[in-house]
Amino acid sequence: MNQDLDRLQPYPFEKLNRLKAGITPPAGLEHIALSIGEPKHQPPKFIAEELISHLHGLANYPLTKGRIELRQAIADWLTRRFALPSGSVDAERHVLPVAGTREALFAFAQVVVERNDKPLVVMPNPFYQIYEGAALLAGAEPWFLNTTARNGFLPDYDAVPESVWQRCQLLYLCSPGNPTGAVTDIATMQKLIALADRFDFIIASDECYSELYFDEQTPPPGLLQAAAAMGRNDFHRCVVFHSLSKRSNLPGLRSGFVAGDAQILERFLLYRTYQGCALPPPTQAASIKAWQDEKHVVVNRDYYRQKFAAVIEILKPVIAVEQPAGGFYLWLKTPGNDTDFTRELFAKQNVTVLPGSYLSRDAHGHNPGAGYVRLALVAEMDECVEAAQRIHEFLKSF
Ligand SMILES: Cc1ncc(COP(=O)(O)O)c(C=O)c1O
Repeated sequence: MNQDLDRLQPYPFEKLNRLKAGITPPAGLEHIALSIGEPKHQPPKFIAEELISHLHGLANYPLTKGRIELRQAIADWLTRRFALPSGSVDAERHVLPVAGTREALFAFAQVVVERNDKPLVVMPNPFYQIYEGAALLAGAEPWFLNTTARNGFLPDYDAVPESVWQRCQLLYLCSPGNPTGAVTDIATMQKLIALADRFDFIIASDECYSELYFDEQTPPPGLLQAAAAMGRNDFHRCVVFHSLSKRSNLPGLRSGFVAGDAQILERFLLYRTYQGCALPPPTQAASIKAWQDEKHVVVNRDYYRQKFAAVIEILKPVIAVEQPAGGFYLWLKTPGNDTDFTRELFAKQNVTVLPGSYLSRDAHGHNPGAGYVRLALVAEMDECVEAAQRIHEFLKSF
């Protein structure tokens, strides 16, 4: 057996199930789960229809590289969304569809990490757990960058020792971040690109929450945009990960893409050819329609905006709560321990949240997720409001 498998941590939800075991919440209150980041808004009908009308495509093996029409729809979307120079994203060389970003974020580390002298994969902490597992199974060590309220929940890249950058082969960036919603600005991305040049590493920018933001005038920037603004139109060392899961409420479709540096993507395609994770033809057809339409995304964003406003209004009198810059999570500082808070809230109000310490690791002397809980505002408005009211009640007596 691969010994590195023993180094994988249990997934946060396994820990959560253990935490809640043996507790019987009040029978009169329906359970509300704010713990899982699974979008629950209705997916657009026209996308489902496109999927169904292409079921005949199941008779063919799809190409790992995907249809050119899909790659072109993605290249066009990237160019529009991030105001990239016209023609800079070449659908042949710069884009690869993936079956959701989860598998792609994992597979990417297997492709880029060279098992030489003690490779490091640098990542935020708290973080999306796939980054850590990807690093470990690629034969690297994760290096955690703690994100705290003091630094606006963004890593302090200036504080990273040079010896760490020297061993860094891959850096995961997550903007807007899961779980904090913090957005990395263009200047910071450009600083990272300069560091990547100096120390010879690759940047994997997980932008799967990039379409969920609150100010319609200031969408979160992306890494390719930062690269292009430096005149780096070949996106050298830069790769971005995007998904239809959050943008279009299609987590079950398993559709996303990776885009950027053509040389890296060529190697990634080679790896993926062996892993065999091509998108089924109906999925590709539906994905084309999804990337071509922006209306449903605007409506989706507005719905989140309304839900955050309503929930924050209810929680404000009893706890410090701020709207994040992006994403669909509230990252709440708990009075006391995050696991006690989670257990008690479940016991008294039948609401499940996720302890922040399950999303982070002890690093550099402390655990930056401890003392926080993550609330995913993914359910419909009524349910989110009901959950907020119950948390309000709970906090009054906590
Ligand atoms: C930060 C982050 N990246 C990537 C993903 C994976 O999304 P998908 O595989 O649905 O594209 C998630 C899902 O929750 C996430 O939170």
